[in-house]
Amino acid sequence: MINKISFKIGMLFFVFILFVEILLFVILYLNLANTQANEVMDNLLARGNTHRDVLEDHFNASTIDHVGMMESASDFTVVITDPNGNVIVDSNHIEAEMKAVIQKALQNPIQSDGEIISSNWKENQYIASNSIIMTGNEVKGHVFMFAETNKIKHVLNEMGKQFKLIGLLTFIITIVTIFILSKLITVPLIRMKKATENIQKEKGELPLDIKRKDELGVLARTIKELAEDLTHLKTERNEFLSSISHELRTPLTYIKGYADILSRREINKTDTLKYSTIIKEEAEQLSILIKNLFDLAKVDQHNFVINQEWILLDQIIQSVIRRMKPAFDNKNISVVVQCPENLKVYIDNARMQQVFINLLDNAQKHSLHNTSILLKVVEHKRSLEIIIQDEGEGIPNEEVPKVFNRLYRVEKSRSRMNGGSGIGLAITKEIIESHGGNIKMESELGKGTKVIITLPKDEK
Ligand SMILES: Nc1ncnc2c1ncn2[C@@H]1O[C@H](COP(=O)(O)OP(=O)(O)OP(=O)(O)O)[C@@H](O)[C@H]1O
Ligand SMILES: [Mg+2]
Repeated sequence: MINKISFKIGMLFFVFILFVEILLFVILYLNLANTQANEVMDNLLARGNTHRDVLEDHFNASTIDHVGMMESASDFTVVITDPNGNVIVDSNHIEAEMKAVIQKALQNPIQSDGEIISSNWKENQYIASNSIIMTGNEVKGHVFMFAETNKIKHVLNEMGKQFKLIGLLTFIITIVTIFILSKLITVPLIRMKKATENIQKEKGELPLDIKRKDELGVLARTIKELAEDLTHLKTERNEFLSSISHELRTPLTYIKGYADILSRREINKTDTLKYSTIIKEEAEQLSILIKNLFDLAKVDQHNFVINQEWILLDQIIQSVIRRMKPAFDNKNISVVVQCPENLKVYIDNARMQQVFINLLDNAQKHSLHNTSILLKVVEHKRSLEIIIQDEGEGIPNEEVPKVFNRLYRVEKSRSRMNGGSGIGLAITKEIIESHGGNIKMESELGKGTKVIITLPKDEK
């Protein structure tokens, strides 16, 4: 419960409201209390002063009685004394606290002819004022006025009750809020948790509300996409693994078979040479395959580093073709190169050579005798295009998009005979893409294949 996000948010809400309430309460309470008390005191003093004014003009028994009578009907108490504090008249019973206040006032030196002498309404039962009756310079007596502080306290008490009520209301609202929040926030979160668990256990539908328009919706959609990616990756990995095991098994079967022959039978020298050559070739094939797989693994781990430098493109092309000349000559294939002589490009030398070798090797393998292969480089404003076109057997339309997949071969048996494992184009694609370019293939069955590479022209 305590760890639930709805509870946390609810608590935060509650504490915040409580804080605001207490702050408001304190400010309001202090303000109201003081205003209230000040008002009563002003009133009290004004009344005392009025009585005094009257008594200064007519300081006689009937006026004094009259004042006493007037106040007996009011909320206040008046006490009129002579200069020594002897009570001449009072409107109500004189409490002990009143007596004490009067005594104290008489002991203190007179400061003005009318003042508040007891203002502590919080602790005392009365607040009091003292107005001095003077004729000329002679003190004739005092008009003491008292007002009960109960009334002020009562008002403030009422206010306190109101605030408590509001506090209770806040508490109830908070509980309701926590409940609503838990519906609004926790439920989708719990669903997401459930969904990720399902993904982990690889089972069931994902109970996600992906139509929500808020952040939770975004999160739900992301989780769903992740789940799809994961499923895709898993199938891809399984397919890849089964292809690899197949690829590894085939040459190993050959190697094992020929090794068996070599060890068991009495065979002549020429056959021994023949079989051991096959074994050697298959082993070489295997080690190339493993190297390529290793390269692909590096791509996946983002360890595929390319070291770019400025290089004359024509030079790499010529060097690759020189190296591959025996293969072309074998089939009497002519390679036509059209590349601007001094075109410098910012590329990884070794990797780019690998690209040309892969593509020219494919073209050569799938071309008939006495045909030609065109390698054309076209320079555009911001990019350059490398086209490798053969007049070979071509690829069926529906297969074209798949040839860049790892270990994908169009005609499995025939390609194997050629020594292909279906990794060349996958690696080529990775290399081109890590140079910031892209590669595509167009092919027509029986007419030939065209590979088009686009590389960005670096202005550095
Ligand atoms: N120029 C081409 N003409 C016809 N088919 C092609 C051509 N290039 C590629 N292919 C087809 O695409 C498949 C994949 O090519 P890729 O270069 O990836 O693999 P591979 O040549 O079989 O083996 P590897 O290059 O790993 O030795 C080939 O097996 C082949 O069927
Ligand atoms: Mg190839």
